[in-house]
Amino acid sequence: MNTPKRYTITAALPYTNGPVHIGHLAGVYVPADIYARYQRLQGSDVLYICGSDEHGVPITIKAKKEGISPQQVVDKYHEMIKKSFAEFGISFDNYSRTTAKIHHDTASEFFKKLYEDGKFIEETNEQLYDAEANQFLADRFVVGTCPKCGFEESYGDQCENCGTSHNATDLINPKSAITGNTPTLKETKHWFLPLDQYQDWLRTWIVEGHANDWKPNVLGQVKSWLDDGLRPRAVTRDLDWGIPVPVEGGEGKVLYVWFDAPIGYISSTKEWAERTGKDWEPYWKDEDTKLLHFIGKDNIVFHCIIFPSMLKAEGSYILPENVPANEFLNLEGNKLSTSKNWAVWLHEYLEDFPGKQDVLRYTLTANAPETKDNDFTWKDFQARNNNELVAIFGNFINRVAVLTHKYYDGIVPSPNAFSEVDEDTLMLLKKYPQIISKSIERYRFREAQNELMNLARMGNKYLADEEPWKVIKQDEERVKTIMFVALQIATALSILSEPFLPFTSNKLKDMLGVNSSEMLWGNVSKENVLLKPGHQINKAELLFAKIEDVEIQVQLDKLAASKKANKLENNPEASGVEPLKETIEFDDFTKLDIRIGTILEAVKVAKTKKLLQLKVDVGIDVRTIVSGIAQSFSPEDIIGKQVTVLTNLAPRTIRGVESQGMILMCDTPDGKLAFVEPDAKIVNGGRIS
Ligand code: 2FM
Ligand code: ZN
Repeated sequence: MNTPKRYTITAALPYTNGPVHIGHLAGVYVPADIYARYQRLQGSDVLYICGSDEHGVPITIKAKKEGISPQQVVDKYHEMIKKSFAEFGISFDNYSRTTAKIHHDTASEFFKKLYEDGKFIEETNEQLYDAEANQFLADRFVVGTCPKCGFEESYGDQCENCGTSHNATDLINPKSAITGNTPTLKETKHWFLPLDQYQDWLRTWIVEGHANDWKPNVLGQVKSWLDDGLRPRAVTRDLDWGIPVPVEGGEGKVLYVWFDAPIGYISSTKEWAERTGKDWEPYWKDEDTKLLHFIGKDNIVFHCIIFPSMLKAEGSYILPENVPANEFLNLEGNKLSTSKNWAVWLHEYLEDFPGKQDVLRYTLTANAPETKDNDFTWKDFQARNNNELVAIFGNFINRVAVLTHKYYDGIVPSPNAFSEVDEDTLMLLKKYPQIISKSIERYRFREAQNELMNLARMGNKYLADEEPWKVIKQDEERVKTIMFVALQIATALSILSEPFLPFTSNKLKDMLGVNSSEMLWGNVSKENVLLKPGHQINKAELLFAKIEDVEIQVQLDKLAASKKANKLENNPEASGVEPLKETIEFDDFTKLDIRIGTILEAVKVAKTKKLLQLKVDVGIDVRTIVSGIAQSFSPEDIIGKQVTVLTNLAPRTIRGVESQGMILMCDTPDGKLAFVEPDAKIVNGGRIS
């Protein structure tokens, strides 16, 4: 017996500073899942792994913004992402996280090994520093002009516009993302991986060795970096969120997130092995294992240059067999954006379209950005469902199941002699596994899925041409053969659809009453009969349901609201609302002593138009406050009113009167002032918190 091929399939670890959206799914997780499911159906030994990428600057920035700890940020999104992947049918064998102890240990050991083997350059040099924030400006803490493409909002480590990866000191006109200040330079020690030493080896391995089997977009990027010349790359940072640098002199420093994240694939494998009692090493060290990294185009440099150089430096690991990176998916013509909420979030999709995981999987694969950026639109999503899944795949299966019940009480009939059309149809059916395999193995998932639909189209055409519903009136024996052939096509569809439409495949297998684990890919080519005469199928059920315009409109409205909110955010004056002030800490807020008080007396301040002198009972005392509200209120109208008072504002003398606090007011659209009043009677001195 042949030993099964072993595959280690990795999907880029998602950052845990937000939920997963359709761009991530189309670029990475759906294609990797199709590949993993396909290889399992081949009987291969497959390990499909992933986990949350929980270090790095964006997480600390998010934590600061929300006033919580980085750990709280990653805990929240890790759970959310893990749950939504599982519900969406992404069939990871293990989903880990980079804050796990096993990962910290694995990454530290990896670093120490390279350190001890003398694979790093240790260098003290000048790095960007924000004196006001007392912080070195690594990675996303600094923004500036990309030295390669001129994009003005490039990050310190990577330009999101052209994908170039660079050092923060390469940026033109850098600005601190914390304070907006122009950084100064300050000396600090770091460890560098001398990528220049790997340049020739990388060229031989990738550009020469994989010229024919790696995707042109990946080869193109790799060539361009190699042609530009590689330079040593710092793998440590002066930050406090990450994996501590485990060697002497590393105090207060952490590993660069892109050093630790890909090691996450290894630690996720170790976690899986511990859980299942398996050995992790063959999946990373046996030359017969095929290692595949599924990623988006912005990750190419890390998976084709930096991580392989790390693995090579370590010495005991295999290298990737392929890195089938995708381009980007856009949404309704615009770039997907987490910060602008321009996205279809997976967890929201699962809530809005329960039980319709396969519709999204299907649409994303049909529009997969395999060779160029592509667009997702809700109208296309609806059309793919209604015109393809419902009208072609669903319609064929429904006709087969309903007619089998109608004519034979759900029992597969014995065929009579096959006509030429039957023979041709069965012959073509047997070729489909190879046709689809060929595309999948070349990472052409759109093409592969289209072939699957061609098989369903073939089934529909066969029924339409043979018309069993008419023939039944003259030739019952012929109909047995037609239905037998149609049932074989339906069974083949239940097997071949599994990588693309796993929920549908299971539903269909249940409907046909076949055992999932016996239904391997190769059976379709080898066996003459997938569903034997006499076999009882189960009740007919609809595989897909039409999606109505109103459901699509809800989604379009959501996007329109995001667009509006964004316009307002970028240009708040347009709505008459002033821009947001700088973020403050909770401690800043707690310094304010704001209480409810009642106005007891009010008189005009002589020789002024605007000022009223008030006596206000604020619970702790009755105090005098001078307030600029005379043009909005007459003194007699406000006696007895409950108002909001900032009570610990330092006293100020206004027109000779000491004012001992401030009444909080709001502008009205007609240019007057309004009190900020409680909507229930409050005891004077009641604190606002
Ligand atoms: O781009 C990203 O979302 C990264 N978090 C991918 C990391 S992949 C890996 F190497 F872990
Ligand atoms: Zn650029």
